Amino acid sequence: MTRITILSTVRSPIPQLKMTTTVWQRRHVLGLADFTPGEYDTVLQTAASFQEVLARRTKKVPALQGQVIANLFFEASTRTRSSFELAAKRLSADTLNFAPGTSSLTKGETILDTAKTYLAMGANMMVIRHRDAGVPQTIAAEMDRLDTRVGILNAGDGQHEHPTQGLLDLFTICSLLNFEYPRLGLLAGKKIAIIGDILHSRVARSNIWCLTSSQAEVHLAAPPTLLPKWFGEIVNDESSGIPRRQLFIHSDIEPALKDADFVMTLRLQKERMSAHLLPSLREYHQNYGITRDRVKLCQPDVKILHPGPVNRGVEISSDLMDDPNFSLIPQQVTNGVAVRMALLYLMGSGSH
Ligand code: NCD
Repeated sequence: MTRITILSTVRSPIPQLKMTTTVWQRRHVLGLADFTPGEYDTVLQTAASFQEVLARRTKKVPALQGQVIANLFFEASTRTRSSFELAAKRLSADTLNFAPGTSSLTKGETILDTAKTYLAMGANMMVIRHRDAGVPQTIAAEMDRLDTRVGILNAGDGQHEHPTQGLLDLFTICSLLNFEYPRLGLLAGKKIAIIGDILHSRVARSNIWCLTSSQAEVHLAAPPTLLPKWFGEIVNDESSGIPRRQLFIHSDIEPALKDADFVMTLRLQKERMSAHLLPSLREYHQNYGITRDRVKLCQPDVKILHPGPVNRGVEISSDLMDDPNFSLIPQQVTNGVAVRMALLYLMGSGSH
């Protein structure tokens, strides 16, 4: 069975299979903390359709022709920025790119005024990355206040969230479990370990919201200085609307890795560390690095993810990172384009 063809609409390829997809209502995607299972399945299914488009000879669809997408990256990025740009181009949108070092920010313009400049040029959506948590939310609130209908996509804000990374990680795992019909339900009973600098990681936060929305067991392990105890309390709070989130916290790596189906390892984000939280990188690798010996604790067919950029030999041993039997790192990058196409498409073609 093949996936559907996208021209200007996305149709369900599997009417006989019960999916929990939902009609898209969001103008902005700022985080995954309040995403519903139906929204996850909608993104997964739409991304699967775009994955099929990207496998064709002509990899472009006219879905967002005439729309303008501004990529406002106030912080460094390689893969997220390029992936958003390619996703917008594959949807036939016009893209505007902004680099803080060569922009009017250097002349004292505020971030809100920068956003309003792109608004005046006709931007329909803005993709925003900033080193401070809350900047995409502030711009979204201003766009709503001005009654603009401009959609804001968070491409990573401080230590808060990185929703498209969480969604592309989810898609990478689910499409490995079922390439034709990736969906949240496939994670039931799976064990996923997230290892590393959880304190400073917006990727970890988005992934925790996302993965604990399924029936997967999510195990976190990090040195105590990089894994606050309150993490568990916030995520397990049932007022978030999703009961029975299964989140477990460890200070040793072994119980987290034991029988894991997927291991997600995170970069040590030294630029966000305000104090000496680790004795040395060597000791960190000894205690928390993902190595061939350590993967023996996991399921035999365990797969390893990393959002990149990687510090080779610190969070993961170099040879394991390059071993296609274990590493899903290249697939994560590839899948990022289809997932970002899905989000831009859903946000840009609705009536929200
Ligand atoms: C991450 C980020 O910027 O949050 N990278 C990414 O977007 N792929 C993770 C990191 O910087 O370590």
